[in-house]
Amino acid sequence: MTMKNFSRILTATLFTAFTSVGVADAAGGKAKKLEHQHWHFSGPFGKFDQDAMQRGYQVYETVCSNCHGLEYLSFRHLGQKGGPFYLDKCPAGIPDNIDCSNPNDNPVVKAIAANYKFQVTDGPDDSGDMFQRPALPSDRFPGPFANEQIARLANNNALPPDLSLITKARHSGPDYLYALLTGYEDTPDTVEIAAGQYYNPYFPGDMTQNMKPEFMDHGHAIEGVDVPLGGVLSMAPPLSDGMIEYTDGSPMTVEQYSKDVTEFLMWAAEPKMEARKSLGVVSLIYLVILAGLLYWSCRKVWSNVDH
Ligand code: HEC
Repeated sequence: MTMKNFSRILTATLFTAFTSVGVADAAGGKAKKLEHQHWHFSGPFGKFDQDAMQRGYQVYETVCSNCHGLEYLSFRHLGQKGGPFYLDKCPAGIPDNIDCSNPNDNPVVKAIAANYKFQVTDGPDDSGDMFQRPALPSDRFPGPFANEQIARLANNNALPPDLSLITKARHSGPDYLYALLTGYEDTPDTVEIAAGQYYNPYFPGDMTQNMKPEFMDHGHAIEGVDVPLGGVLSMAPPLSDGMIEYTDGSPMTVEQYSKDVTEFLMWAAEPKMEARKSLGVVSLIYLVILAGLLYWSCRKVWSNVDH
């Protein structure tokens, strides 16, 4: 390998390492363009905001959990370091021998699990029957529906997806989630949609098939009429102003609820993000130093060889 080739490979490798963090936009052209929101957790030094996550959990618990599960999350994750209800020391009134930084002993997490609106199916017991019991920190979040069929029956035949990984399962996940929750609009006059369906300009879809016939000509919208952006989904706008009582003075608006629940769901999808990011930064520094050393030693080794 000549020195020139070596430098080229080195540059290419470093370039790839630094630029492969880019993200694509949602929904191939037909949905409304997402606006970028400011998120505490973006960027290489991003961190989750504990207050926002706590409020976001409240939004999930009060509203979203009625239809959406969170199957990959256990209650005790809420009390892990970096989690929404992590405590580094116990609140007053807890005996000294308890370590509240341990999620299984965290009193907030224990109470959330024990009072959760759905119980855990356990068993079989001694007589072979399954039974319901209150959740423990070690349990995963019980979902709202016993199976997919029941979920569909309750939701106009659509399946509410599990939200554990939703922010990762959609392009520009956090911006998309925020836009979807805040972006519902009245159905445009040019389209007709079935009962139980709701128009949202950010939901990926194609509204051509919903156009009223008088606005169409040979499969295309007539001149001067645009096919609306976005699509229809079977989730009614889940949030409305004032529906969830915040106790920390944050605005009780659809925008704030949506921001908070996105922060919570982003954490739920990657509870170890902060650790990963700090490791990432350290590794990059390490790689840069290593690359420099390699470059220098390579020059040294080849310095007396004729090309
Ligand atoms: C009354 C039931 C119900 C509630 C409450 C509800 N959803 Fe949904 N949600 C649904 C259904 C049904 C779908 C599937 C819609 C479809 O595919 O047509 C859905 C779909 C979604 C999707 C997927 C959209 C996509 O790109 O496929 C997200 C994200 C979502 N909901 C988030 C939430 C959040 C966050 C909350 C709480 C603020 C919430 N939902 C509350 C029923 C609900």
